[in-house]
Amino acid sequence: MKIAPSILSADFCRLGEEVAEVKAAGADWLHVDVMDGLFVPNISVGIPVVKSLRKGADMFLDTHLMIERPLRYVQRFCEAGADLVNVHVEADTEENIRKAIETVKACGKMAGLTLKPKTPAEAILPFLPLCDLILVMTVEPGFGGQRFMEDQLPKLRQVRAYLDALAPACELEVDGGVDENTAPLCAEAGASVLVAGSAVFGKPDRAAAVRALKAKP
Ligand code: DX5
Ligand code: ZN
Repeated sequence: MKIAPSILSADFCRLGEEVAEVKAAGADWLHVDVMDGLFVPNISVGIPVVKSLRKGADMFLDTHLMIERPLRYVQRFCEAGADLVNVHVEADTEENIRKAIETVKACGKMAGLTLKPKTPAEAILPFLPLCDLILVMTVEPGFGGQRFMEDQLPKLRQVRAYLDALAPACELEVDGGVDENTAPLCAEAGASVLVAGSAVFGKPDRAAAVRALKAKP
């Protein structure tokens, strides 16, 4: 199980130190939440922060674009140094989402497709052959520190079944309300990557926090 701490819950004033701490703590990826104030009711960070992290942090950068019409920006996120670019299936037409994923692949980066809680698992099917990762949201996107939606677990299992049958190399990531209590539920449902904001950056001992998320129940 890979753990991807979300910098949304980090202290941006000390971002470099925060990232170095979670890396030393055993975190596998770094999750960067990008919000435009339109697709979600919040604004966070963007391309300049990805560029700085690429220079200053030796970690795999998992970017989560919570933005309208991501096709407009995916190439710039790749050029800024993202290793993986996640776009939301709800953020544009099927044709444009396909183009966004193809653009990420053409840049030589991993492409992820993300589902909001109300979006059914079948929504991934037209895109599955192109995807390196499916991200299932277990909160409404926009804010850290929300409660894990257990009603997303059947969907997670359904996505796992699609991946096993059609794209076994594709990663399955879960984002929202993941902590030491909900991580085992995600693992049991077939997740391979867990995003955790408050459950890592909200804890003073980051090594203990990452260990707790990786622990088998
Ligand atoms: C929510 C973001 C998440 C968030 C997770 O819109 O996509 O990545 O930072 O935070 P926690 O783990 O605190 O729910
Ligand atoms: Zn996220």
